[in-house]
Amino acid sequence: MALILGIESSCDDTGVALYDSDQQIIIAELLASQTQMQKDYGGVVPELASRDHLKMITPLLNELCTMANCKLKQIDAIAYTKGPGLNGALLVGAAVANSLAFALNIPIIPIHHLEGHLLSPLLAEAKPSFPFLALLVSGGNTLIAVVEALGKYQILGETLDDAAGEAFDKTARMLGLPYPGGAEIAKLALNGSEIYRLPRPLSNSNDLNFSFSGLKTAVATLINRLSGGDDSQLSQSDRQNIAKSIEEAITDSLVNKVEKALEQTGLTNLVVSGGVSANLTLRDKLDKLGVNTFYPPLKHCTDNGAMIALCGALRLKLGQFSYNFTVLPRWQLMEYNQCNT
Ligand code: KG4
Repeated sequence: MALILGIESSCDDTGVALYDSDQQIIIAELLASQTQMQKDYGGVVPELASRDHLKMITPLLNELCTMANCKLKQIDAIAYTKGPGLNGALLVGAAVANSLAFALNIPIIPIHHLEGHLLSPLLAEAKPSFPFLALLVSGGNTLIAVVEALGKYQILGETLDDAAGEAFDKTARMLGLPYPGGAEIAKLALNGSEIYRLPRPLSNSNDLNFSFSGLKTAVATLINRLSGGDDSQLSQSDRQNIAKSIEEAITDSLVNKVEKALEQTGLTNLVVSGGVSANLTLRDKLDKLGVNTFYPPLKHCTDNGAMIALCGALRLKLGQFSYNFTVLPRWQLMEYNQCNT
């Protein structure tokens, strides 16, 4: 059996996993999320993220081996996220992965973080077949891509400014909701109505890009108008209606471009991943598009080590591995397609 260790540390989650490439299953995985720690700051503080990865990674690896009942020397290869992401955070994973691989004298496989997300549906029991359309909607990314096969990705559209999750988080903050705000907005929206029509930027453009940064100004103006400049004057129903209006605006923008992408490509398999894919209004709208929609389990939708281990196993089979201490915080997926690690 070939056992691949995956290490993810690109942002605010330290993820480790062991993938058995013969049985094609994850045999153990662990995640240390920094969400609680970063909550007070309303976002991710890069220096704190790196320090937490450093604190967590060795205990996580020890615990992972205990869970899987295996010793480090039984691992056959190590895959890690080389980029994109936060420089210091990536360096922690890269340093641990490369040192371990060097000490154990086993192959090391650098992985593009977005490849991990795009292929994560292959970890599910009900796997989509290639090619499929992927909508990746997280706190850091919002894009639509065609996934043809391993290493063959075509980005059809992406956000020109804020990610969809970021738009949820920033507007949630304006409503005094805690970080991360997406789930909080969704909860508040449950009892609200879309009384306010917020903008859906680029909805009439022919491209498949998104723009969410204007939403912040629109929401700030709306809150100001309703409250007379004093947020504490907003009633609970105002807040619920604003939340519903935000949720509708963001999800409409996403669905509009997915629908166009499906039309353009003729694809009938759609995979939706990233933290925002947990949004039930979004799922409801996407499910009505009449294609086969796949939602990987949430633990594999958000950042995790399992998707990195899986990509490592697939690339190992092609003989794509090399020692490499560099990390690429701004690595384009298209460059990765060309150079294949
Ligand atoms: O994939 P993820 O962990 O992103 C990154 O770390 O980049 O997803 C986190 C994002 C946050 O922006 C959060 O507000 C959003 O996913 N999110 C949601 C929901 N649950 C999480 N957004 C909308 N509705 C939800 N139910």
